[in-house]
Amino acid sequence: MKLPEGPKASPQWLSHQFKTDPLALMDAMSDRYGDIFTIMAGSTPTVYVSKPQGIKQIFTSAKEITASGKLNEHSALLVGNNGLLMLDGLRHKHRRQLLMPPLHGTRVQEYGQRICQVTDKVMNNLAMPAAGYAGKSFYAYPTMQKITLEVILQALFGLDSGERYEQFRQLLSNFLTFARSRWLKFSLSYPFLRQDLGRWSPWGHWLDLQRQFDKLLYTEIAERRSQADPSRTDVLSELIFARDETGQAITDEDIRDMFPSLLFGGQDASATAITWSLYWIHRLTDVRERLLAELDTLGESPDPMKIVALPYLSAVCNEALRIYPTQVVTFPRLVESPIQVMGYELSPGTVVIGCIYLTHQREDLYPQPKQFQPERFLERQYSPYEFLPFGGGARRCPGEVLALFEMKLVLATILSRYQLALAHQEKIEKPKAIGINYPPASGLKMLMLCRRLSQGESPQLVTSST
Ligand code: HEM
Repeated sequence: MKLPEGPKASPQWLSHQFKTDPLALMDAMSDRYGDIFTIMAGSTPTVYVSKPQGIKQIFTSAKEITASGKLNEHSALLVGNNGLLMLDGLRHKHRRQLLMPPLHGTRVQEYGQRICQVTDKVMNNLAMPAAGYAGKSFYAYPTMQKITLEVILQALFGLDSGERYEQFRQLLSNFLTFARSRWLKFSLSYPFLRQDLGRWSPWGHWLDLQRQFDKLLYTEIAERRSQADPSRTDVLSELIFARDETGQAITDEDIRDMFPSLLFGGQDASATAITWSLYWIHRLTDVRERLLAELDTLGESPDPMKIVALPYLSAVCNEALRIYPTQVVTFPRLVESPIQVMGYELSPGTVVIGCIYLTHQREDLYPQPKQFQPERFLERQYSPYEFLPFGGGARRCPGEVLALFEMKLVLATILSRYQLALAHQEKIEKPKAIGINYPPASGLKMLMLCRRLSQGESPQLVTSST
């Protein structure tokens, strides 16, 4: 079998390069090897594909190429043994189907007002500029994480106020922050560090956070089971009363394992996408002005569904997801039976990965790919194998509808109500890996200038109320 060509450098060196400047490494691979290349992981070939024709095969050849859960085993310590990432086949398909109603359609639309309110609350709580100062600085990425955490709490648990909401919010904020910390990263990389030496040791602290989460969640599950409330439409309520693929009630442990990957996706990927959008919108005056002009056509307090339908806003979100996709590659897939991909015969055991970033950088699809040009999405329709920020096939992101809805509403609320600026207008921001997402390495320092004026209003600085 002849594999596509690829670098001969050591996997450790490549992995280091991937961590320090992933996009430069991918650009270099694509310049040198083209649309398809192989990187060896020990004796396992991993084939990276960026041509739409090859991406289509990865997503649609369900018999020959599977979304094997085994390939994500290294994530089990983080997301649980029965999380979506660990599952495959019928069980995976069935669990994903359970998520569809609460994460799609009218259920998602119900979160519209809440998303706008949460955004306003978080932005309004940022310190206001002192008299005589041009603006007060804040970091956009952690600020957007506060917003996306609240939105995902509502979608997953149906909680937006009260004691239980506060407990979940505080605990999950600690849980997700620690999950991204260097301490945990070391413990995950070196098994000998995974020792429970009490809650002051990194691994002990992680286990303690997990135990606290389990306790809180199991209490909530027990209460909901004992007082069924059919008006609840969140993911947890859906799972509690659902049956698994064999017709049995889903166990509390299985329900628990569904949440970490939903929480990571729900908070980090969405915050990354919104932060990059803020960067481009405030870097490029023309984009910001055109967007504001479009938002202003809706008048005061517009209906969220009207915001979501705005064409230029949609194009800006798509372009932000194109130029720096939050996840630069898909999760790995496994070749189960021989298949020809782009002229290469791949044998069982080969791992294949869709290069989201490289597909989005193709000159033949996106002329001047390094330029941020939302207009391209107004002029042309892209196929799911040409534009794939949410991946595709069996593991296509189940949060896509919620994520796009949220992205548009958060951006529209911020832009129409606040005047912001980049703290360093000329600085070129680069993505950096945090977990599997690639937010701006600096966290994106911005300035809060003032509340934006609507016609006829007198200037009003942001106050730190609520
Ligand atoms: C702009 C925001 C988001 C982006 C760009 C994004 C992107 C992605 C991508 C690229 C994948 C991998 C797909 C593949 O391998 O083919 C994925 C999977 C996943 N995402 Fe998202 N995501 C976002 C938001 C969300 C949200 C809001 C949630 C939760 C509600 C979520 C939950 C997940 C889960 C659980 C998976 C794994 C699916 C599986 O294994 O079947 N994501 N996402």
